[in-house]
Amino acid sequence: MAKPRTTYVCRQCGAFQSRWMGKCPDCGAWDALEETRVEASAGADPQRGLAQAWTMAQGAMADEGSGVGVASELIEAISGAAPQAEPIDRPSSEPAPARLATGIGELDRVLGGGVVAGSAALVGGDPGIGKSTLMLQGAAALARKGVRTLYVTSEESAEQTRLRFTRLAGGDPAPELFVLADTNLARIVEQARRIMPRVLVIDSIQMIYKADLDASPGSVTQLRRCCTELVYLAKASGVAILLVGHVTKDGALAGPRLLEHLVDCVLYFEGDRHHAHRVIRAVKNRYGTTLEIGLFEMGDRGLRELPDAAGVVAEAGPARPGSVVVSALSGTRCLLVEMQALTATGFLGAAKRKASGVDAGRLAMLIAVLEQHAGLRLADRDVFASAVGGVKVGEPAADLALLLAIAGSHLKRSLPRTTVAIGEVGLGGEVRPVSNLEQRLREAARLGYTTAIAPKAKGLRAPKGMELVSVGTIGEAIDQLA
Ligand code: TYD
Ligand code: MG
Repeated sequence: MAKPRTTYVCRQCGAFQSRWMGKCPDCGAWDALEETRVEASAGADPQRGLAQAWTMAQGAMADEGSGVGVASELIEAISGAAPQAEPIDRPSSEPAPARLATGIGELDRVLGGGVVAGSAALVGGDPGIGKSTLMLQGAAALARKGVRTLYVTSEESAEQTRLRFTRLAGGDPAPELFVLADTNLARIVEQARRIMPRVLVIDSIQMIYKADLDASPGSVTQLRRCCTELVYLAKASGVAILLVGHVTKDGALAGPRLLEHLVDCVLYFEGDRHHAHRVIRAVKNRYGTTLEIGLFEMGDRGLRELPDAAGVVAEAGPARPGSVVVSALSGTRCLLVEMQALTATGFLGAAKRKASGVDAGRLAMLIAVLEQHAGLRLADRDVFASAVGGVKVGEPAADLALLLAIAGSHLKRSLPRTTVAIGEVGLGGEVRPVSNLEQRLREAARLGYTTAIAPKAKGLRAPKGMELVSVGTIGEAIDQLA
């Protein structure tokens, strides 16, 4: 019998290493490698064996025309079981998978119109952000529309969930909603088979375990196996599965990226715990766009939809010189970040330039561009620049906002609080196009910004309710400062 092999898998990126190391050589994460056992037979793919036999038979056929019988027999065996290649435009015999709209518009929009039967979606977010609340409200809404839903809670008791449900629903019954408090995957699947739900919510996947695996719940081995089996269950049974996952302190879904590859849809639920607003966004969606975001407000009766962003306009108050908002992308996520700058009297030849959260090299470049192309005299001014809230904005798309903040502080002029500025600044003083401009504008519009200063782009449509001011040079942008 083959000996089980020990390998080490990175919790962050899912890469395999043959020995333990303090730092993952693939993604650079510290202390993320975890021991796993690979059964020797687990890697063997039955399909590969078949393919190998086929190529061998083909070789024999070429060598001495006698292998023909063997080969055609094999081909027959293969074609009997395997799917056939077909022209893509042939009408499909299978009906399109059903979309189950929850009725919570903000959630449905992000999902691309509702949960898809036979698909698996992963919902991630910081602890305490409201994932369980959102899932329970979604499950209850589905159940009230007559869609049988099983809500599996692996972190709380059924009684706790029931209490939360009563508080959220305010007494509205949902006879099609079932709750199960369990962490054993086999028992969960058994209960699902008994109840036959059309939607299955697992809150959270990190606590689910398979008893036959020699690894603790939440470990890479357990996560991957449980997730694979649930995805398989979804495909085989047509049940839509929603998985809740925790997020690590740097914002990645805990467990390796592998989970994100397994599922059809990855949603992030975000927000500041000290504020009531919550944002849900898709970072991956096989059934829709990832440009949409959904907005909620957390209150004493759970999450309330904010279908129009009127309530979320950037903090009201007078406009301030030296403060400009940019919609910046971090990974696939779009954040509205306030860029601030202050210019103060300094000494010629010893002027200070300090940057926090922005690149010092880019700050120096922007100051030089302002001197050369906008006629601002900054040589004897101290310039301080920062991205507010401890975020780091490294992308060139934030150039224009930072430049306008510096110019605004120097000229004591400002932009209205509902204006965002997006654009890269070139050395010639030109405003250059940026990636994903439409996504940035949509996000800003959703969050209540009404005007955007952006580079000229062909075929760009401004989102509803947003005025687009296209600028080609920094001079035109500075003219917008009032
Ligand atoms: P929860 O859904 O348990 O978060 P998660 O599953 O993401 O860990 O929500 C936790 C927070 O939401 C909790 O701190 C309190 C708040 N909350 C409300 O403000 N109102 C409510 O009606 C509910 C249910 C929760
Ligand atoms: Mg929870």
